[in-house]
Amino acid sequence: MKLKDFPKDRVLLAPSLLAADFARLGEQVAAAEAAGAEILHLDVMDGHFVPNISMGSLVLDSLRPRSGMLFDAHLMITHPLLYLESFAKAGADHITFHIECPDDTGAVIDAIHALGLSAGISLKPSTPFSAVEPWLDRVEMFLVMSVEPGFGGQKFMPAQLDKVRAAKEWSLRTGKALRIQIDGGIGPSNAALVRDAGVDCLVAGTAFFRHADGMEAAAFQLRGES
Ligand code: DX5
Ligand code: ZN
Repeated sequence: MKLKDFPKDRVLLAPSLLAADFARLGEQVAAAEAAGAEILHLDVMDGHFVPNISMGSLVLDSLRPRSGMLFDAHLMITHPLLYLESFAKAGADHITFHIECPDDTGAVIDAIHALGLSAGISLKPSTPFSAVEPWLDRVEMFLVMSVEPGFGGQKFMPAQLDKVRAAKEWSLRTGKALRIQIDGGIGPSNAALVRDAGVDCLVAGTAFFRHADGMEAAAFQLRGES
């Protein structure tokens, strides 16, 4: 599955694997897919760009044969350029990197596209929208971080919605298609708010994999269907 294959007006759900039970990853991914999630969001942390270490391409590689979901690798790492190929080989369909990393932004975007994948650009809460704006016409997705990257289960930062609104305005003004994704502290209580601001791809870890009523209920509530 590729990002461009989804209907443009469909709000996409991207459960973050970080909140899954790592002893039962295959099962949990199958359950997320059965609940209707379109995208599996894989948070990759190197202990350097962010103060935590999570998973690498080996995890994608093991899960790839078990799922038809779009695999979305969110690289919170200092040198994405060095690892793009291994994530593509492991089965990533989409790669998002951070504007704050020292690698050349244009080179990272070109390398992701050269591997046949869609590209996303992200920014930390303290980085202004103006830092990514010049690059938006070269990527397929813009990821707004609504928590400080590094850990799941943090509190949503509503002020980050200004970046969503700015990206939506940019897309309307330029006529360029752009998926707007949000990541961090997203759940049933703020899903409508973020969708109304212009988000069309919701990442949810805790609220999806650890929802008290199960993943199907999580999916319905995140989409605003019940
Ligand atoms: C934070 C990660 C998020 C996080 C989301 O660095 O990028 O994907 O796991 O988790 P929740 O939904 O629990 O805030
Ligand atoms: Zn993420």
